Amino acid sequence: MKILMVCLGNICRSPLAEGIMRHLANTKGLNWEIDSAGTGNWHVGHSPDHRSVKEAKKNGVDISGLRGRQFQIADFDTFDLIYVMDRSNYTDVLRKARNNADKAKVHFLLPEQQEVPDPWFDDALFAPVYKMIYKACENIADQQQ
Ligand code: 4NP
Repeated sequence: MKILMVCLGNICRSPLAEGIMRHLANTKGLNWEIDSAGTGNWHVGHSPDHRSVKEAKKNGVDISGLRGRQFQIADFDTFDLIYVMDRSNYTDVLRKARNNADKAKVHFLLPEQQEVPDPWFDDALFAPVYKMIYKACENIADQQQ
């Protein structure tokens, strides 16, 4: 299984999702390929936000080595599943889809199209965002194996 996690900047939410999903896949012995990307290009080449790095580290997940990159159309070819954090990511990724097969790969990370809030302007959101993403990744790992 090849999974891509997508948010806006690729420095707060999707690096957490990438790190957590990889951690859970490894724990469960799943040979999955996990990556993340942002719909925007402001943070290409940047490390994840220090608040995400800290929250992950607190929970035993190291995301410090990840680097930001922008979502590209070729990602539809590379990945089986593309998980987005919120509605604007959903719209932005779907806008790049070339056909129905591309569109069918795109899902909200949380059930019932709930959104993972953007924690960029609110330090207090990093802990709940971590928990939301962890639970969603656990569900994905449990369902897909
Ligand atoms: P993310 O958070 O989409 O979870 O990585 C953001 C990071 C940076 C910006 C916005 C959201 N920004 O505007 O630079």
